[in-house]
Amino acid sequence: MSTRRPLIAGNWKMYKTIAEAQKTASELIDRTAAADSVDIMIAPPFTAIASVAGIAANSRVAVGAQDLFWENDGAYTGEIAPGMLTEAGCRYVIIGHSERRQHFAETDETVNRKIAAAVKAGLVPILCIGESEAQREADETFSVLDKQVKRGLKGLFAKDLKKLVIAYEPIWAIGTGKTATSDQAQEVHRFLRQVLVELFDADFAQSVRILYGGSVKPANIAELMSMEDIDGALVGGASLDAETFARIVTF
Ligand code: 13P
Repeated sequence: MSTRRPLIAGNWKMYKTIAEAQKTASELIDRTAAADSVDIMIAPPFTAIASVAGIAANSRVAVGAQDLFWENDGAYTGEIAPGMLTEAGCRYVIIGHSERRQHFAETDETVNRKIAAAVKAGLVPILCIGESEAQREADETFSVLDKQVKRGLKGLFAKDLKKLVIAYEPIWAIGTGKTATSDQAQEVHRFLRQVLVELFDADFAQSVRILYGGSVKPANIAELMSMEDIDGALVGGASLDAETFARIVTF
C-alpha cells in the first residue's frame, strides 16, 4: 500500500472563456468540498488562471498552468514567465504535454529547461510523457519513455524535485476513448518508478506521484486507482464538466 497522496488533475486545454471557467471552478469546489483524501488541481487557459485562482483560494482545489517559459522576463513575445504564474495563483504547471510536443515543437531539451525553471519558481512540475501508437506497435514504449524521463530531468537533483509529478499519457489514448487497460498502465508506471530509482534512489522513486492520463472517466478511474503504482490522473475532456470531474475526484 503506497503512502502517496492521490492527485486528480484537470487539464482544460484551450477550452472555456473566463466566465465559463469561473462557473465550472465554483461548481467543482462545491462538489469536492468533502474530498479530503485527494489533492485536486485544475489547469485553465492562461486568461482564466487569475480569476479561477481567486475563486479557488481557501478551497481544496489548486490551480495550475498548462505551460510556461523558462526565462524570468525579457523580449519573448507571447510567453509567460514562471513568476507570473505564481503571482496569478498557480501552484502547479503541466510541462511537455504531447500536444505541445506535437504542435509547438517542444523537445525533451525545452521540457528540461521548463522543469528547472518551474522548480526554481516553487511551482510543482507535472512532467508529461507518452508513446505514440506507432511506437507502441514497434515495441519502443519503454525506450521512448526512458529517454523522455532521463532527458526531461537531466541535471536536476532529487532535492530539487521533491514535489515532482509525472503524468504518463499514451498519445493513442488521449481524446480517443481508448484507455490503456489498468494492467498496461500499471506496467508502465512500475517501469517509470524503476527509471527513477536508477536516476536518483529508491526513496525518491517511492515518493513521486505518477499519474495516468488518456480517456480517464468516472467509469474507469476506480480500476486505474486500484493499481499499486498509479497515484492519480490527468484528465482532459472529462474535467470540463464539474459534475463529471467531481465524480472522478471522489472515485
Ligand atoms: P482526455 O482525458 O481528453 O483523453 O485527455 C487527456 C489529456 O491529454 C490530459 O492532459
